[in-house]
Amino acid sequence: MDRRKFIAGAGGAILTSHASSVFGTSNIANLNNACGPTTRLTRGPYLTPNSPLRSDIRENSPGVPLKLELTVIDDRWCTPISECVVDIWHCGANGLYSGVDNIVFNPDTLRVSDQAINMKDKSYLRGHQVTDENGKVVFTTIYPGWYMPRLAHIHVRVVWRDVEWTALDTQLYLPADVERAVYQTAAYAARGPNPIGVDRDIVMKGDAEAVRNLTVTLERDGDGYKGNFEIAATSL
Ligand SMILES: [Fe+2]
Repeated sequence: MDRRKFIAGAGGAILTSHASSVFGTSNIANLNNACGPTTRLTRGPYLTPNSPLRSDIRENSPGVPLKLELTVIDDRWCTPISECVVDIWHCGANGLYSGVDNIVFNPDTLRVSDQAINMKDKSYLRGHQVTDENGKVVFTTIYPGWYMPRLAHIHVRVVWRDVEWTALDTQLYLPADVERAVYQTAAYAARGPNPIGVDRDIVMKGDAEAVRNLTVTLERDGDGYKGNFEIAATSL
């Protein structure tokens, strides 16, 4: 085996076991995430140009605090990648994205209706940062709400040094037990639990294993939650 590749692989394994001890997840699950490739999912219609450079993307959005640490690693060498632009965006507790016309689905047919909800003059719950030498960025946000016909999710886009063709788009999911608790709290309770499970999610289409691999393990953190997720992306 190529020596450099072996060393890089060993480094990745150490990183993985460290993450598993902190966040209490199995090595097997982390290995799936660690050296990837991280499952790519559609970017969807709601990324806006010129998202703000910021760590705290909440503005005044009501909801349960969520501290999300993302670590970008190379999809071949499993080593941290600095200088990646990491964009995240998700809907509020009300199920609406800022900055766009929100598509409204018919709850019975799960097809697009002719309605839309305009939130173009808002900028909450979007932002980007650049990974440090450890491949890390940390966002402070809220637990996302839900909208038809999707599981609750957080969109992520990673681009290495403005090289657009390295872009990796995916979506992160959150644990069902945390979601049940969160959706009973003030900002979410009026809308109740998400009626859409993985079977009816229009992106995941029943692929429960992919959802598991893209689920961020969360632990309590003050009055909210925190979690880390490794994303394997391409650098040159
Ligand atoms: Fe979305």
